[in-house]
Amino acid sequence: EADERTERIEAALEELGDDVVILGHNYQRREIVEHADFIGDSYELSKRAAETDAEYVIFGGVTFMAESADIITDDDQTVILPSMEASCPMAGMAEALQVDAAWAEITAAAPDTDIIPITYMNSYADLKAFCASQGGLVCTSSNAHKAFEYAFDRGDKVLFLPDKHLGENTAHRLGMEDEIVEWDPWDPEGKDAEAVAESDIILWDGYCQVHERFTTDHIEQVRDANPDAQVIVHPECRREVVEAADKAGSTAEICRTVEEADPGDTWAIGTEIHLTEHLKRWHPEMNVLPLCGDACMDCNAMRQIDPNYLTWVLEELVAGRERNVIEVAPEEKELAGLALERMLEI
Ligand code: 13P
Ligand code: SF4
Repeated sequence: EADERTERIEAALEELGDDVVILGHNYQRREIVEHADFIGDSYELSKRAAETDAEYVIFGGVTFMAESADIITDDDQTVILPSMEASCPMAGMAEALQVDAAWAEITAAAPDTDIIPITYMNSYADLKAFCASQGGLVCTSSNAHKAFEYAFDRGDKVLFLPDKHLGENTAHRLGMEDEIVEWDPWDPEGKDAEAVAESDIILWDGYCQVHERFTTDHIEQVRDANPDAQVIVHPECRREVVEAADKAGSTAEICRTVEEADPGDTWAIGTEIHLTEHLKRWHPEMNVLPLCGDACMDCNAMRQIDPNYLTWVLEELVAGRERNVIEVAPEEKELAGLALERMLEI
């Protein structure tokens, strides 16, 4: 069955030729990345989307990535997401309307202060547009520190959303760990106006369920069982996990680290399980381990991109039908594009 599906995907791709490019995030299933023209982290994929001339960009990833690709590509290019169910739960933790309401409270708590909002790529286009409208920008895990520097060059405080862990890890990287306050929009007790007035970095209370799961116990256990093991984690992990690890970085940085290691080295990987499985397969000369053994999770949004859906959208294109097109509303496109351009320039 898998062979037949592969043949069908290959036949459709042959038929479509240069009209189609497939971009695959590092967390996609093996059956998707095997067909991708380019595999990478969110930053690299957005750059590839900006560079491609293909008429159709098929995105192996989640909704916010496909939206960003639509914003970055030209108007005559079409972005297709093989499943409309592939929505990152963390992106849903900061809805633009909710952020609008919080913005009014936060700016009232710190009058006469320039607050620059920065949103992680893992957010929807309307939030990206909001950030641009207030002088802010987008970042990914590979350039969050640069986005903070951009903001502090232009304002007094940063509101970072939705991922509090990436925000906290970035504040540490910049030596600003004493400047943090959390803003929990769901808890009246979690909105401390006085603390907002006194702190330079306000962190929205969002998180990734896949990465929050890693603990320092996992790191201890892996080191006990493998004394030579080095540990690399994604900066969406909790602060104490990033601190205890040997290294932290975006999914592309995790790939580079394993690629550049000496054969026989042991690396324990604290991120989504599909990437760990890919690294094992791509680097049989290395000893690659999942940081939390069997308890490591896959991402339920990324998992929605089933290879059968990929087959379907490709065969529909061959038949002249565009399915699952991702189109950002024109009124958001320009400002969200500005927020992304600011990121691509830093
Ligand atoms: P990267 O930008 O590191 O690929 O991360 C994307 C993501 O969703 C991590 O959970
Ligand atoms: Fe979202 Fe986490 Fe999945 Fe990344 S791994 S897409 S942050 S839920």
